Amino acid sequence: MKLEEHLAGHDQDLRELVLKIGEIGKVIHKGFASRQSVSDTQNVYGETQMALDKWADQVLIDGLRESGLVKYLASEEQPDVLEFEGSKSDIGITQDPLDGSSLIGVNLAVGTIIGIFRGSVLVPGQEMIGAMYVLYGPLTTLTYCLKKGVHEFVLDPNGEFVLQSEDIRIPDGKIFAPGAIRKKYLDGHLKWIEALEADGYKIRFSGSFVADVHQILHKGGVFTYPGIVGSEQGKLRLLFEGNPMGFIVEQAGGATSDGYRSLLSIQPDGVAHRVPIYVGGKKEINLINNINGGI
Ligand code: F6P
Ligand code: MN
Repeated sequence: MKLEEHLAGHDQDLRELVLKIGEIGKVIHKGFASRQSVSDTQNVYGETQMALDKWADQVLIDGLRESGLVKYLASEEQPDVLEFEGSKSDIGITQDPLDGSSLIGVNLAVGTIIGIFRGSVLVPGQEMIGAMYVLYGPLTTLTYCLKKGVHEFVLDPNGEFVLQSEDIRIPDGKIFAPGAIRKKYLDGHLKWIEALEADGYKIRFSGSFVADVHQILHKGGVFTYPGIVGSEQGKLRLLFEGNPMGFIVEQAGGATSDGYRSLLSIQPDGVAHRVPIYVGGKKEINLINNINGGI
């Protein structure tokens, strides 16, 4: 089944938005071959931006502005929320145009992550009406959730997104993807990691959040980029990474946490809000919440 048919039954503007982002994803994928160079500028978080990041950001901004489907747009690569005058809809979106971009130069999977709201995006993630990501790996896939299940499509040789997995549910699994530096772990986090190791969990961490969470969604287990000594709020961002991927995993029967509570319950203090991230199975998330609650 094609993506367009699968979207039947959702609001017209949301259907158009998911299709539009799928089309932009195809353009971004095609840009990989010609735009590998590193630019010398830094984004608002002080990270060096690949030329491809900035280009992908602009392709999304231009495409979404022109579509008339989006009123508010927050991007990981922009310091402020953009507002598009004359939009025919009230959709607000968050975008991480190319998550995992440090892996572009070594040809590992990276992706585009989108959160979808009605109106403002500076609200807790539980107000999201949808989320999606396009993963550029050996195959290009598109996963979307508009609160009626999590569904995955694969880009076929004819350039069509066709259904690959419907109603994905996160299984039990013994994979963990632990980010950051072990010697800087906080007490609760270290206890939790040791509990997973004692239980036979196997490490799978690529350096691309979107790809690592995608794997967890299919195989079970848990991804974490925790708060550490000196960076208690961690590295990843609530709006662009934690919330959209967390929304998808929660809708697939999993859970999220900042170590204490669901990521989706947190009021962002601005676009650049960083947060310790735990995303995966309910069992693993309950364990970190319980360990921290007991400390
Ligand atoms: O977007 C930030 C990011 O690239 C994530 O995709 C990834 O999980 C993380 O940073 C990796 O960070 P580090 O280089 O510290 O392992
Ligand atoms: Mn990112």
